[in-house]
Amino acid sequence: MSATLPASVDDVHAGLRAAGYLPGESTALVSYLAARLGKPVLVEGPAGVGKTELAKALSRYLDRRLVRLQCYEGLDEAKALYEWNYRKQLLRIQAEAEGTGWDAVQDDIFGEEFLLSRPLMQAIAADEPVVLLIDEIDKTDQEFEAMLLELLSDFQITIPELGRIEARTHPVVLLTSNNTRELTEALKRRCLYLWLDYPDTEHELEIVRLHAPELGDTVARKLVDVVHQVRELDLKKPPSIAESIDWARALLLLGADDISQDVFRETMSIIVKHRTDLDTVAERVGVRLAA
Ligand SMILES: Nc1ncnc2c1ncn2[C@@H]1O[C@H](COP(=O)(O)OP(=O)(O)OP(=O)(O)O)[C@@H](O)[C@H]1O
Ligand SMILES: [Mg+2]
Repeated sequence: MSATLPASVDDVHAGLRAAGYLPGESTALVSYLAARLGKPVLVEGPAGVGKTELAKALSRYLDRRLVRLQCYEGLDEAKALYEWNYRKQLLRIQAEAEGTGWDAVQDDIFGEEFLLSRPLMQAIAADEPVVLLIDEIDKTDQEFEAMLLELLSDFQITIPELGRIEARTHPVVLLTSNNTRELTEALKRRCLYLWLDYPDTEHELEIVRLHAPELGDTVARKLVDVVHQVRELDLKKPPSIAESIDWARALLLLGADDISQDVFRETMSIIVKHRTDLDTVAERVGVRLAA
């Protein structure tokens, strides 16, 4: 097992930057602790602030494969952990020569060969340590969360027919949540916690520059200022980093060298995506740009 373990928080900071992710201070710290202590991290925050991307960047930086489990309502063990390949089992039974006893066949069809492993199992059974991303855990129900607990505290899975499968290597685990429901205390207790929020102006400017390097300095600065003004308003859905980046790329394509009132009016639907929000923003920010 020769995977790199970061030597310091600064190491993680530099490593994530090199992997195309500009971490805030607590992001680097928590990522460092997660890698060294082997604890999962629960990453919460509004949409589009870099939760999922953090896991991808960690996998690039640590040079580990990313195993991703996308959560949704109704997700169950069969899709998350493992299931038996019934069809293959059936074929095996049919192919069995007449006269073979049931015991022999049974031993056979509940072997690893007949197991379909899903992301959680793949992460546990991997030979090389991986980064495991359990994305949008808040979309699942509490039963699923309970199932995760065994995994997250012991890094093992019990399959009745096969026995216990223990992790050969220790994955770095990230769980993300948009906070659509409160997660259980039991889950939180087992995780380190990272709250990702909208970044401050300088930080966001740097992120925008990273994703749209050709955008002129004046426009980039103004863009970030405007986005921050928009976030101050009481909107249904404030623009996220993802929207800032989209807007930057759009302005670049359109060849805008300033954000005038006209440019703003034409392009503001890239950062504001609710009918009522559009009205509020046009009135409060659009007018200010004209002044
Ligand atoms: N610190 C950062 N450095 C570089 N890029 C970033 C950073 N934070 C966010 N981004 C970029 O912002 C975009 C949105 O990030 P991401 O998809 O990870 O958001 P999210 O928090 O997972 O959102 P959602 O809750 O909607 O899934 C991505 O393109 C990502 O590259
Ligand atoms: Mg995400």
